[in-house]
Amino acid sequence: MAKRVSPNVVVFLGAGGVGKTTLSTSFALAAAQSGQTVVLLSIDPARRLQSALSVGKLDDEITVVPLVKEFKGKLYAGQLNVEQAFSRWIKDEGMPHEAQEKLHGHVFFQTLVSRVATMGDAFAAVRVAEILEKMPNVDCIVVDTPPGIHAIDFLTKPERMREFLNSRTMEFIKMFGRGGGLFSRALKAGAAHLLDALGNIAGHGFITAFGELLVLSEGVFNTMSNRLEAASKILRSSKSSYVFISAVRDDAINVVEDLNDALKKQGIVVSFGVLNRIISSELQNDKGFSDFLEKHQESSGELQVFVNYVRSWISKQDVALKRMKLLVPSVVQIPLVPGLESSADQRLQDLAELGALILEGVKNHKRGSL
Ligand SMILES: Nc1ncnc2c1ncn2[C@@H]1O[C@H](COP(=O)(O)OP(=O)(O)OP(=O)(O)O)[C@@H](O)[C@H]1O
Ligand SMILES: [Mg+2]
Repeated sequence: MAKRVSPNVVVFLGAGGVGKTTLSTSFALAAAQSGQTVVLLSIDPARRLQSALSVGKLDDEITVVPLVKEFKGKLYAGQLNVEQAFSRWIKDEGMPHEAQEKLHGHVFFQTLVSRVATMGDAFAAVRVAEILEKMPNVDCIVVDTPPGIHAIDFLTKPERMREFLNSRTMEFIKMFGRGGGLFSRALKAGAAHLLDALGNIAGHGFITAFGELLVLSEGVFNTMSNRLEAASKILRSSKSSYVFISAVRDDAINVVEDLNDALKKQGIVVSFGVLNRIISSELQNDKGFSDFLEKHQESSGELQVFVNYVRSWISKQDVALKRMKLLVPSVVQIPLVPGLESSADQRLQDLAELGALILEGVKNHKRGSL
Protein backbone atom coordinates (compact mmCIF):
# COMPACT_ATOMS: atom_id res chain seq x y z
CA MET A 1 0.00 0.00 0.00
CA ALA A 2 1.25 3.46 -0.83
CA LYS A 3 2.50 5.43 2.12
CA ARG A 4 -0.03 7.99 3.18
CA VAL A 5 1.20 11.54 2.79
CA SER A 6 0.70 13.89 5.70
CA PRO A 7 -2.59 15.78 5.58
CA ASN A 8 -3.21 19.29 4.38
CA VAL A 9 -4.31 22.06 6.68
CA VAL A 10 -6.57 24.75 5.22
CA VAL A 11 -7.20 27.82 7.38
CA PHE A 12 -10.06 30.26 6.63
CA LEU A 13 -9.44 33.86 7.68
CA GLY A 14 -11.38 37.10 7.39
CA ALA A 15 -13.40 39.88 9.04
CA GLY A 16 -16.56 39.28 11.09
CA GLY A 17 -19.59 37.98 9.25
CA VAL A 18 -17.97 37.54 5.83
CA GLY A 19 -18.77 33.83 5.62
CA LYS A 20 -15.77 32.02 7.17
CA THR A 21 -17.88 29.46 8.99
CA THR A 22 -20.21 28.90 6.04
CA LEU A 23 -17.40 28.56 3.52
CA SER A 24 -15.06 26.48 5.68
CA THR A 25 -18.01 24.13 6.19
CA SER A 26 -18.67 24.17 2.43
CA PHE A 27 -15.02 23.46 1.69
CA ALA A 28 -14.93 20.56 4.17
CA LEU A 29 -18.13 19.12 2.67
CA ALA A 30 -16.77 19.43 -0.87
CA ALA A 31 -13.57 17.65 0.16
CA ALA A 32 -15.63 14.90 1.85
CA GLN A 33 -17.79 14.64 -1.28
CA SER A 34 -14.68 14.08 -3.36
CA GLY A 35 -13.71 11.13 -1.16
CA GLN A 36 -11.37 12.70 1.37
CA THR A 37 -11.41 12.13 5.10
CA VAL A 38 -11.76 15.60 6.55
CA VAL A 39 -11.70 17.13 10.02
CA LEU A 40 -13.46 20.48 10.34
CA LEU A 41 -12.24 22.27 13.46
CA SER A 42 -13.63 25.54 14.73
CA ILE A 43 -11.31 27.55 16.94
CA ASP A 44 -13.85 30.38 17.19
CA PRO A 45 -15.35 30.52 20.69
CA ALA A 46 -18.58 31.79 19.09
CA ARG A 47 -19.60 28.17 18.31
CA ARG A 48 -21.37 28.88 15.02
CA LEU A 49 -20.11 25.74 13.36
CA GLN A 50 -22.80 23.49 14.74
CA SER A 51 -25.59 25.54 13.15
CA ALA A 52 -23.69 25.81 9.85
CA LEU A 53 -23.44 22.02 9.82
CA SER A 54 -26.94 21.47 11.25
CA VAL A 55 -25.60 19.08 13.87
CA GLY A 56 -26.16 18.92 17.62
CA LYS A 57 -23.69 20.34 20.11
CA LEU A 58 -20.13 20.16 18.88
CA ASP A 59 -17.39 19.83 21.43
CA ASP A 60 -13.71 19.27 21.81
CA GLU A 61 -14.15 15.59 21.05
CA ILE A 62 -13.91 15.16 17.27
CA THR A 63 -17.08 13.36 16.10
CA VAL A 64 -18.37 11.99 12.81
CA VAL A 65 -20.88 14.14 10.93
CA PRO A 66 -23.57 11.94 9.35
CA LEU A 67 -23.62 12.45 5.58
CA VAL A 68 -25.72 10.99 2.78
CA LYS A 69 -24.14 8.39 0.50
CA GLU A 70 -23.31 10.93 -2.22
CA PHE A 71 -20.45 11.94 0.03
CA LYS A 72 -17.78 9.37 -0.74
CA GLY A 73 -15.43 10.48 2.00
CA LYS A 74 -15.87 11.13 5.69
CA LEU A 75 -16.39 14.31 7.66
CA TYR A 76 -15.49 14.79 11.31
CA ALA A 77 -16.04 18.01 13.22
CA GLY A 78 -15.07 19.51 16.54
CA GLN A 79 -15.04 22.77 18.41
CA LEU A 80 -11.92 23.76 20.33
CA ASN A 81 -12.61 23.74 24.05
CA VAL A 82 -9.38 24.32 25.95
CA GLU A 83 -10.76 23.28 29.32
CA GLN A 84 -11.89 19.89 28.00
CA ALA A 85 -8.70 19.48 25.98
CA PHE A 86 -6.57 20.17 29.02
CA SER A 87 -8.33 17.51 31.10
CA ARG A 88 -7.86 15.03 28.27
CA TRP A 89 -4.18 15.89 27.91
CA ILE A 90 -3.68 15.19 31.62
CA LYS A 91 -5.44 11.84 31.29
CA ASP A 92 -3.43 10.99 28.15
CA GLU A 93 -0.21 11.63 30.00
CA GLY A 94 -0.89 8.46 31.97
CA MET A 95 0.43 9.91 35.22
CA PRO A 96 -0.25 7.94 38.42
CA HIS A 97 -3.76 8.32 39.73
CA GLU A 98 -2.68 10.11 42.91
CA ALA A 99 -0.60 12.65 40.93
CA GLN A 100 -3.68 13.31 38.78
CA GLU A 101 -5.77 13.84 41.89
CA LYS A 102 -3.17 16.08 43.42
CA LEU A 103 -3.03 18.11 40.24
CA HIS A 104 -6.80 18.48 39.96
CA GLY A 105 -6.99 19.45 43.63
CA HIS A 106 -4.10 21.88 43.41
CA VAL A 107 -4.84 25.36 44.62
CA PHE A 108 -3.79 26.89 41.29
CA PHE A 109 -5.04 24.26 38.93
CA GLN A 110 -8.59 25.54 38.42
CA THR A 111 -7.27 29.08 38.00
CA LEU A 112 -4.73 27.87 35.46
CA VAL A 113 -7.34 25.93 33.52
CA SER A 114 -9.81 28.79 33.43
CA ARG A 115 -7.02 31.20 32.45
CA VAL A 116 -5.78 28.99 29.63
CA ALA A 117 -9.35 28.50 28.45
CA THR A 118 -9.33 32.15 27.40
CA MET A 119 -6.11 31.63 25.45
CA GLY A 120 -7.74 29.48 22.82
CA ASP A 121 -5.60 30.75 19.97
CA ALA A 122 -2.39 29.45 21.49
CA PHE A 123 -3.96 26.04 22.01
CA ALA A 124 -5.58 25.85 18.62
CA ALA A 125 -2.21 24.96 17.11
CA VAL A 126 -1.68 22.30 19.80
CA ARG A 127 -5.09 20.88 18.93
CA VAL A 128 -4.23 20.73 15.21
CA ALA A 129 -0.99 18.90 15.99
CA GLU A 130 -2.90 16.51 18.27
CA ILE A 131 -5.35 15.69 15.45
CA LEU A 132 -2.44 15.06 13.08
CA GLU A 133 -0.93 12.73 15.64
CA LYS A 134 -4.04 10.82 16.66
CA MET A 135 -5.95 10.60 13.38
CA PRO A 136 -3.42 9.29 10.87
CA ASN A 137 -6.07 8.60 8.22
CA VAL A 138 -7.12 12.20 7.85
CA ASP A 139 -6.46 13.82 4.46
CA CYS A 140 -7.35 17.37 5.32
CA ILE A 141 -7.91 19.54 8.40
CA VAL A 142 -10.08 22.60 7.77
CA VAL A 143 -9.85 25.36 10.38
CA ASP A 144 -12.59 27.95 10.92
CA THR A 145 -11.15 30.92 12.82
CA PRO A 146 -12.55 33.79 14.88
CA PRO A 147 -13.04 37.08 13.04
CA GLY A 148 -10.32 39.61 12.37
CA ILE A 149 -6.63 40.05 12.63
CA HIS A 150 -6.37 38.22 15.98
CA ALA A 151 -6.93 34.93 14.22
CA ILE A 152 -3.24 35.23 13.36
CA ASP A 153 -2.44 34.73 17.05
CA PHE A 154 -3.04 31.13 16.20
CA LEU A 155 0.37 31.28 14.47
CA THR A 156 2.32 33.68 16.66
CA LYS A 157 1.17 32.81 20.17
CA PRO A 158 2.30 29.17 20.01
CA GLU A 159 5.83 30.36 19.33
CA ARG A 160 5.80 32.66 22.30
CA MET A 161 4.23 30.03 24.48
CA ARG A 162 6.79 27.44 23.47
CA GLU A 163 9.58 29.87 24.21
CA PHE A 164 8.07 30.43 27.62
CA LEU A 165 7.59 26.71 28.31
CA ASN A 166 11.22 26.08 27.42
CA SER A 167 12.57 29.19 29.08
CA ARG A 168 14.95 29.33 31.98
CA THR A 169 12.42 31.25 34.01
CA MET A 170 10.12 28.28 33.75
CA GLU A 171 12.89 25.87 34.81
CA PHE A 172 13.68 28.18 37.62
CA ILE A 173 10.12 28.33 38.91
CA LYS A 174 9.85 24.54 38.64
CA MET A 175 12.77 24.13 41.02
CA PHE A 176 10.66 25.45 43.84
CA GLY A 177 8.02 22.88 43.26
CA ARG A 178 10.59 20.14 43.72
CA GLY A 179 11.18 21.30 47.31
CA GLY A 180 14.27 20.32 49.28
CA GLY A 181 15.33 23.80 50.27
CA LEU A 182 16.01 24.84 46.68
CA PHE A 183 14.19 28.03 47.32
CA SER A 184 16.75 29.25 49.84
CA ARG A 185 19.66 27.79 47.87
CA ALA A 186 18.54 29.68 44.79
CA LEU A 187 18.32 32.82 46.82
CA LYS A 188 21.92 32.34 47.84
CA ALA A 189 22.88 31.54 44.26
CA GLY A 190 22.06 35.08 43.27
CA ALA A 191 18.50 34.74 42.08
CA ALA A 192 17.28 36.95 44.84
CA HIS A 193 16.26 39.83 42.64
CA LEU A 194 13.97 37.76 40.46
CA LEU A 195 12.44 35.96 43.39
CA ASP A 196 12.02 39.16 45.29
CA ALA A 197 10.30 40.72 42.35
CA LEU A 198 7.99 37.73 41.95
CA GLY A 199 7.61 37.32 45.68
CA ASN A 200 6.69 40.94 46.17
CA ILE A 201 3.96 40.59 43.64
CA ALA A 202 2.54 37.30 44.71
CA GLY A 203 4.19 36.15 47.92
CA HIS A 204 6.86 33.46 48.23
CA GLY A 205 4.26 30.79 48.99
CA PHE A 206 2.78 31.53 45.59
CA ILE A 207 6.03 30.72 43.80
CA THR A 208 6.44 27.44 45.66
CA ALA A 209 2.86 26.42 44.90
CA PHE A 210 3.16 27.50 41.28
CA GLY A 211 6.41 25.56 40.95
CA GLU A 212 4.70 22.49 42.42
CA LEU A 213 1.93 22.81 39.86
CA LEU A 214 4.44 23.01 37.03
CA VAL A 215 6.30 19.95 38.28
CA LEU A 216 3.04 18.00 38.53
CA SER A 217 2.02 18.98 35.03
CA GLU A 218 5.48 18.79 33.49
CA GLY A 219 4.55 15.87 31.23
CA VAL A 220 1.52 17.75 29.93
CA PHE A 221 3.64 20.81 29.21
CA ASN A 222 6.33 18.72 27.51
CA THR A 223 3.80 17.11 25.19
CA MET A 224 2.32 20.54 24.59
CA SER A 225 5.71 21.99 23.76
CA ASN A 226 6.41 19.16 21.28
CA ARG A 227 3.02 19.67 19.67
CA LEU A 228 3.60 23.42 19.47
CA GLU A 229 6.81 22.71 17.62
CA ALA A 230 5.13 20.25 15.23
CA ALA A 231 2.25 22.67 14.61
CA SER A 232 4.56 25.58 14.05
CA LYS A 233 6.35 23.58 11.34
CA ILE A 234 3.26 22.33 9.54
CA LEU A 235 1.48 25.69 9.69
CA ARG A 236 4.46 27.29 7.95
CA SER A 237 4.99 24.49 5.44
CA SER A 238 3.56 24.08 1.96
CA LYS A 239 1.12 21.58 3.49
CA SER A 240 -0.85 24.49 4.90
CA SER A 241 -3.00 26.85 2.86
CA TYR A 242 -4.62 30.05 4.03
CA VAL A 243 -7.78 31.31 2.41
CA PHE A 244 -8.85 34.93 2.78
CA ILE A 245 -12.58 35.48 2.83
CA SER A 246 -14.02 38.90 2.20
CA ALA A 247 -17.43 40.36 1.57
CA VAL A 248 -18.18 43.37 -0.62
CA ARG A 249 -17.29 45.69 2.24
CA ASP A 250 -14.36 48.10 2.53
CA ASP A 251 -13.67 47.17 6.15
CA ALA A 252 -13.58 43.46 5.26
CA ILE A 253 -10.96 44.08 2.57
CA ASN A 254 -8.98 46.21 5.04
CA VAL A 255 -8.92 43.20 7.36
CA VAL A 256 -7.63 41.02 4.50
CA GLU A 257 -4.87 43.59 3.91
CA ASP A 258 -3.91 43.49 7.59
CA LEU A 259 -4.01 39.69 7.64
CA ASN A 260 -1.86 39.55 4.53
CA ASP A 261 0.77 41.85 6.09
CA ALA A 262 0.77 39.90 9.34
CA LEU A 263 1.15 36.56 7.52
CA LYS A 264 3.96 37.92 5.37
CA LYS A 265 5.81 38.79 8.57
CA GLN A 266 5.46 35.12 9.48
CA GLY A 267 6.95 34.17 6.12
CA ILE A 268 3.61 32.98 4.77
CA VAL A 269 2.45 34.06 1.32
CA VAL A 270 -1.26 33.63 0.66
CA SER A 271 -2.22 33.11 -2.93
CA PHE A 272 -5.92 32.54 -2.73
CA GLY A 273 -8.96 34.57 -1.71
CA VAL A 274 -12.73 34.47 -1.89
CA LEU A 275 -15.08 37.37 -2.47
CA ASN A 276 -18.34 36.20 -0.97
CA ARG A 277 -21.96 37.16 -1.59
CA ILE A 278 -21.51 38.74 -4.97
CA ILE A 279 -24.04 39.22 -7.76
CA SER A 280 -22.72 36.72 -10.26
CA SER A 281 -21.66 37.68 -13.77
CA GLU A 282 -24.18 35.11 -15.06
CA LEU A 283 -26.95 37.07 -13.40
CA GLN A 284 -25.48 40.40 -14.52
CA ASN A 285 -25.36 39.11 -18.12
CA ASP A 286 -28.84 37.64 -17.95
CA LYS A 287 -31.04 39.50 -20.42
CA GLY A 288 -34.11 39.50 -18.17
CA PHE A 289 -32.07 40.91 -15.31
CA SER A 290 -30.41 43.68 -17.33
CA ASP A 291 -33.71 44.57 -19.00
CA PHE A 292 -35.30 44.81 -15.56
CA LEU A 293 -32.57 47.19 -14.35
CA GLU A 294 -32.85 49.21 -17.55
CA LYS A 295 -36.63 49.44 -17.35
CA HIS A 296 -36.81 50.63 -13.76
CA GLN A 297 -33.83 52.94 -13.85
CA GLU A 298 -35.97 55.96 -14.50
CA SER A 299 -39.05 54.88 -12.61
CA SER A 300 -39.81 56.40 -9.26
CA GLY A 301 -40.45 54.90 -5.86
CA GLU A 302 -39.19 51.69 -4.29
CA LEU A 303 -38.24 49.95 -7.51
CA GLN A 304 -35.92 52.76 -8.47
CA VAL A 305 -34.29 52.65 -5.03
CA PHE A 306 -33.82 48.91 -5.45
CA VAL A 307 -32.33 49.26 -8.95
CA ASN A 308 -29.92 51.92 -7.73
CA TYR A 309 -28.93 49.72 -4.84
CA VAL A 310 -28.20 46.78 -7.16
CA ARG A 311 -26.19 48.98 -9.51
CA SER A 312 -24.12 50.48 -6.71
CA TRP A 313 -23.55 46.98 -5.28
CA ILE A 314 -22.24 45.80 -8.66
CA SER A 315 -19.82 48.72 -8.92
CA LYS A 316 -18.72 48.22 -5.29
CA GLN A 317 -18.07 44.55 -5.95
CA ASP A 318 -15.91 45.44 -8.97
CA VAL A 319 -13.80 47.72 -6.76
CA ALA A 320 -13.63 45.06 -4.03
CA LEU A 321 -12.50 42.46 -6.56
CA LYS A 322 -9.72 44.74 -7.83
CA ARG A 323 -8.53 45.38 -4.28
CA MET A 324 -8.53 41.64 -3.51
CA LYS A 325 -6.59 40.89 -6.69
CA LEU A 326 -3.89 43.33 -5.62
CA LEU A 327 -3.41 41.18 -2.53
CA VAL A 328 -3.76 37.64 -3.86
CA PRO A 329 -3.27 36.42 -7.43
CA SER A 330 -6.39 34.29 -7.50
CA VAL A 331 -9.85 35.28 -6.27
CA VAL A 332 -12.91 33.05 -6.49
CA GLN A 333 -16.26 34.80 -6.41
CA ILE A 334 -19.07 33.13 -4.51
CA PRO A 335 -22.58 34.31 -5.28
CA LEU A 336 -25.19 35.26 -2.79
CA VAL A 337 -27.24 32.09 -2.35
CA PRO A 338 -30.77 32.51 -1.07
CA GLY A 339 -32.01 30.01 1.49
CA LEU A 340 -28.54 29.02 2.66
CA GLU A 341 -29.80 29.07 6.21
CA SER A 342 -32.77 26.79 5.70
CA SER A 343 -32.44 23.37 7.25
CA ALA A 344 -33.49 21.39 4.19
CA ASP A 345 -31.65 18.11 3.54
CA GLN A 346 -30.47 19.55 0.27
CA ARG A 347 -28.55 22.21 2.17
CA LEU A 348 -25.36 20.29 2.85
CA GLN A 349 -25.19 19.39 -0.83
CA ASP A 350 -25.73 23.03 -1.81
CA LEU A 351 -22.96 24.00 0.56
CA ALA A 352 -20.69 21.30 -0.90
CA GLU A 353 -21.32 22.77 -4.35
CA LEU A 354 -20.14 26.20 -3.18
CA GLY A 355 -17.16 24.57 -1.47
CA ALA A 356 -16.15 22.80 -4.67
CA LEU A 357 -15.35 26.20 -6.21
CA ILE A 358 -12.98 26.95 -3.35
CA LEU A 359 -11.51 23.44 -3.33
CA GLU A 360 -10.64 23.83 -7.00
CA GLY A 361 -9.00 27.20 -6.38
CA VAL A 362 -6.94 26.01 -3.43
CA LYS A 363 -5.82 22.95 -5.42
CA ASN A 364 -4.58 25.11 -8.27
CA HIS A 365 -2.78 27.51 -6.02
CA LYS A 366 -0.69 25.43 -3.81
CA ARG A 367 2.54 23.60 -4.19
CA GLY A 368 2.15 19.84 -4.02
CA SER A 369 -1.27 18.30 -4.35
CA LEU A 370 -4.39 18.37 -2.31
N1 LIG B 1 -22.75 33.09 -0.21
C1 LIG B 1 -23.68 33.34 0.72
N2 LIG B 1 -24.97 33.52 0.36
C2 LIG B 1 -25.93 33.78 1.26
N3 LIG B 1 -25.71 33.84 2.58
C3 LIG B 1 -24.45 33.66 3.02
C4 LIG B 1 -23.36 33.39 2.11
N4 LIG B 1 -22.23 33.25 2.85
C5 LIG B 1 -22.58 33.42 4.15
N5 LIG B 1 -23.91 33.68 4.26
C6 LIG B 1 -24.66 33.96 5.50
O1 LIG B 1 -24.04 35.05 6.14
C7 LIG B 1 -24.07 34.92 7.56
C8 LIG B 1 -22.66 35.03 8.12
O2 LIG B 1 -21.89 33.92 7.66
P1 LIG B 1 -20.84 33.17 8.58
O3 LIG B 1 -21.40 32.91 9.94
O4 LIG B 1 -20.34 32.03 7.80
O5 LIG B 1 -19.72 34.30 8.68
P2 LIG B 1 -18.41 34.29 9.59
O6 LIG B 1 -17.37 35.01 8.84
O7 LIG B 1 -18.10 32.93 10.07
O8 LIG B 1 -18.94 35.18 10.82
P3 LIG B 1 -18.20 35.37 12.23
O9 LIG B 1 -17.09 36.31 11.96
O10 LIG B 1 -19.28 35.97 13.08
O11 LIG B 1 -17.73 34.02 12.69
C9 LIG B 1 -24.71 33.58 7.84
O12 LIG B 1 -26.05 33.82 8.15
C10 LIG B 1 -24.60 32.82 6.51
O13 LIG B 1 -25.66 31.92 6.32
MG1 LIG C 1 -17.75 32.17 12.00
